[in-house]
Amino acid sequence: MSITILGIESSCDDTSAAVIQDGYLLSNLIADQDVHRNYGGVVPELASRAHQQNIIPVVEQAIKSAGISRNEIDAVAFTRGPGLLGSLLVGTSFAKGLAMSLNIPIIEVNHLQAHVLAQFIRKKEKPSEIPSFPFLSLLVSGGHTQLIVVRDYLDMETIGRTIDDAAGEAFDKCGKVIGLPYPAGPEIDKLSVQGNRESFQFNKPRIKDLDFSFSGLKTSFLYFVRDKVKEDKDFVQKRKPDLCASLQKTIIDILLNKLIKATEKTGIRNIGVAGGVSANSALRNTLTNEAQKRDWDICFPEFEFATDNAAMIAITGYFKFKKGLFSLLDIAPLARMDI
Ligand code: KG4
Ligand code: ZN
Repeated sequence: MSITILGIESSCDDTSAAVIQDGYLLSNLIADQDVHRNYGGVVPELASRAHQQNIIPVVEQAIKSAGISRNEIDAVAFTRGPGLLGSLLVGTSFAKGLAMSLNIPIIEVNHLQAHVLAQFIRKKEKPSEIPSFPFLSLLVSGGHTQLIVVRDYLDMETIGRTIDDAAGEAFDKCGKVIGLPYPAGPEIDKLSVQGNRESFQFNKPRIKDLDFSFSGLKTSFLYFVRDKVKEDKDFVQKRKPDLCASLQKTIIDILLNKLIKATEKTGIRNIGVAGGVSANSALRNTLTNEAQKRDWDICFPEFEFATDNAAMIAITGYFKFKKGLFSLLDIAPLARMDI
């Protein structure tokens, strides 16, 4: 008998629904929200309103393009947290209502765990590289930067985390300083290709053990740009690719340095990179080269599963379904959740 899971993701600014059957992806629909672009960040109230508008058509389309009927769905997996409470509430309530009407169970999913497990989404037409257990996950997203020991699908332990901003936040906030639209990460990635990463030096934090910090970098970048603009008002315009490449290199250096420490401390050489920032091309290149040098086995999620998506919620739901880990209907979303 096959297991079919509908996944729903609504933790931040993307409304997404996906269908996974026996671990294989049948559909993954994402409606992103343009409403935040003009504000330089996600506006929570606008996000939950947009989720309300999007959720029914997105779920319907996901079921339709999966080529299944509603009655084939065995459980609805949804993001319980962490994220914006109003946004999470839309997905959680919808999951409950749909599951009740179909008389099937719901499965709560931790968004962070789902990012880590995005590596395991399979596509029929294309075999993907899957890390073997135990592996170290470098989770780098807009809200989180963590190093996690993954012993099994649902057995994870965080061994390092950011004490302030996340890596994605560093990209986004520094991008804002030089006038890039939100989210700035993908734009910095693109602009860096034409820049020289050795052009400028920014402060790197000295944080003990396996923890990270990015807020000092943001401040040092801000002051640096401010001083240079005082000397030449066209500085940003003239040196944008160099600024992007140098900033990006600093962020990658910080991440790589801690990843090396984590492999030394744990002795684990299998690595999975996860979260929105894992889409960054320079990060992928740097870590792939480093893996060759250091004899690591490294995997990245496919680009479409690096940033927020419901396929990762559905695959996590699938692993929980197999263990009988269902949730009660009175479950509430949580703005904060950890691994
Ligand atoms: O995982 P995600 O979609 O959402 C969260 O759970 O936070 O990550 C979004 C973050 C944003 O900060 C965005 O700027 C960053 O991922 N991002 C990138 C790239 N694509 C997305 N950062 C650097 N380079 C990219 N190509
Ligand atoms: Zn995310």
